[in-house]
Amino acid sequence: MIKDTLKVAVPKGRIYKQAIQMFRKAGFDIPIDLEEGRKLVISIPTANMEFILAKPVDVPTYVEYGVADIGVVGKDVLMEDGRDVYELLDLGIARCRMSVIGMPDWEQPIYPRVATKYPAVASAYFRERGQQVEVIKLNGSIELAPLIGLADRIVDMVETGTTIRENGLVEMETIFDITSRLIANRVSYRMKNEPIQHLCDQLQHIINESAQSERV
Ligand code: PRP
Repeated sequence: MIKDTLKVAVPKGRIYKQAIQMFRKAGFDIPIDLEEGRKLVISIPTANMEFILAKPVDVPTYVEYGVADIGVVGKDVLMEDGRDVYELLDLGIARCRMSVIGMPDWEQPIYPRVATKYPAVASAYFRERGQQVEVIKLNGSIELAPLIGLADRIVDMVETGTTIRENGLVEMETIFDITSRLIANRVSYRMKNEPIQHLCDQLQHIINESAQSERV
């Protein structure tokens, strides 16, 4: 019998609903509307889980420090943060991409300024290309930066492309594709291996099924 309660950090916001749907499909009896209240730690005895509703960027921190055993987080956050956690599964949800974006017909200056929520990702990207840039960290509405002259380029997430289109910007290059991942604390992975492995197997089954239905 599986008795260990799993502490699961789930991101509030755009990934939340898709993540919960996946857990439900995988056979875990989790109410769909957890996010609607103000409660941040929610015990779900029927699934042997405790959900921690976190800000997406903080999920790997909770997992690395072991206050959550596992977590769901976007590849964008993992790439930026470089936390010491196991990446167990690509859940294939919340698909989008990290891109370099700019104004059309923009003359590239010698030392461009790049605004982003992802300074580590942006710095690594331009460094690998031998391009000297000044990276400016912003916390949101990144598309504003080229519009009002703060930066020449931005590095940001593109999902539907609506935000860049509506602001007259163009996607210049894709840096990497993003999906949500299941991550685990290294110690929890050993100590609670049975419930974590059980969850992974169930989720993998759902991932395979949806890959199959995409192929048909
Ligand atoms: C993200 C991202 C883009 C937008 C992309 O912002 O930073 O601005 O979504 O989505 P789209 O391609 O579907 O338009 P988010 O909504 O997370 O808010 P933020 O601007 O505060 O970062």
